[in-house]
Amino acid sequence: MKIKMVNNYQEMSNDAADLIEDQLKKKKASILGLATGGTPEGLYEELVRRYHLGRIDFQEVQTFNLDEYIGLPQDHPQSYAFYMWSRFFSQVNIDPARIHLPFSTTAGDAEAATAYDKQLKQAGGIDLQLLGIGENGHIGFNEPSSFLWADTHYAELSRETMEANARFFAWREDVPQQAITMGMAPILQARHIVLMASGKEKAHAVKEMLCSPISPWHPASFLQLHSKVEVVLDAEAAAELPPHVFAYK
Ligand code: PGA
Repeated sequence: MKIKMVNNYQEMSNDAADLIEDQLKKKKASILGLATGGTPEGLYEELVRRYHLGRIDFQEVQTFNLDEYIGLPQDHPQSYAFYMWSRFFSQVNIDPARIHLPFSTTAGDAEAATAYDKQLKQAGGIDLQLLGIGENGHIGFNEPSSFLWADTHYAELSRETMEANARFFAWREDVPQQAITMGMAPILQARHIVLMASGKEKAHAVKEMLCSPISPWHPASFLQLHSKVEVVLDAEAAAELPPHVFAYK
C-alpha cells in the first residue's frame, strides 16, 4: 500500500489522473472500475482535459461503475448514470457499448446483481479500481455492518450516508434509501486500486481504514489486505494519520 499526501483537492485529482493515464499507456483496453460522488469530480474534469489534449484515448476502455441508487431513473440528475454521462462519458471517445452501470428498479431483483458480476467476470476483472470513501468508512455502498456481502448486492443506506447525500437533493425525503453496489469481492480482485479522499470530514474514516483492525464495521479496512493500493489524500483527509503510515510500500 502506498499512501501519498498532497496539498489540496486539485493535486489529488491530478495525481489520480496520472495513475489512470499511466494505466492506459500500459494497456489501451483497460477495464476501469469507476466511482461517483464529490471526490472524483475534479479527476473526471482532468481526464476530459487530457483527452482533449490528445494525451488519453478511451476508445478501447471498458468501465464498470461501483453503484447506483434504487428508485431513480437513469436520466434523473442525481442518478449516478446521469453523473457519469454528463461529466465523463459524453465528453470523451469511450464506446457506449463498453460502459457498464449497475441498475435495478427494485431492490429485490437478484438477477440484475448476478448479471453485473457475470459481465465483470467475463470482461476479465478490473485493472484499475477508483474509490472514494464515505465518512462512515463505506466503499461504494458497502455500508458498515456486522456482515459483509461479497458480491454485487442491494444495500440499505445508513443514516450517515443518507445525511451525507442529502446535500445533493432539494428535500430530505427525496434521498434514496437503497442502492445496488459492487461488493467487496470484485473490488478486492481489482489488480490495482486507487482511493482518493479530500477534506477533514474524511480524516477519521481514513485513519480507521489504515490503522484499525479489519472489520465489516469499517468496510474500507479490507483494503489493508490488497497488495496494490494507492491512497491519495489531501492534507485535511490525512490529518489524523500517524507519520509512520507514509512509509508503507
Ligand atoms: P463523496 O462520497 O465523494 O461525495 O464524499 C464518497 C463516498 O461516499 O464513497
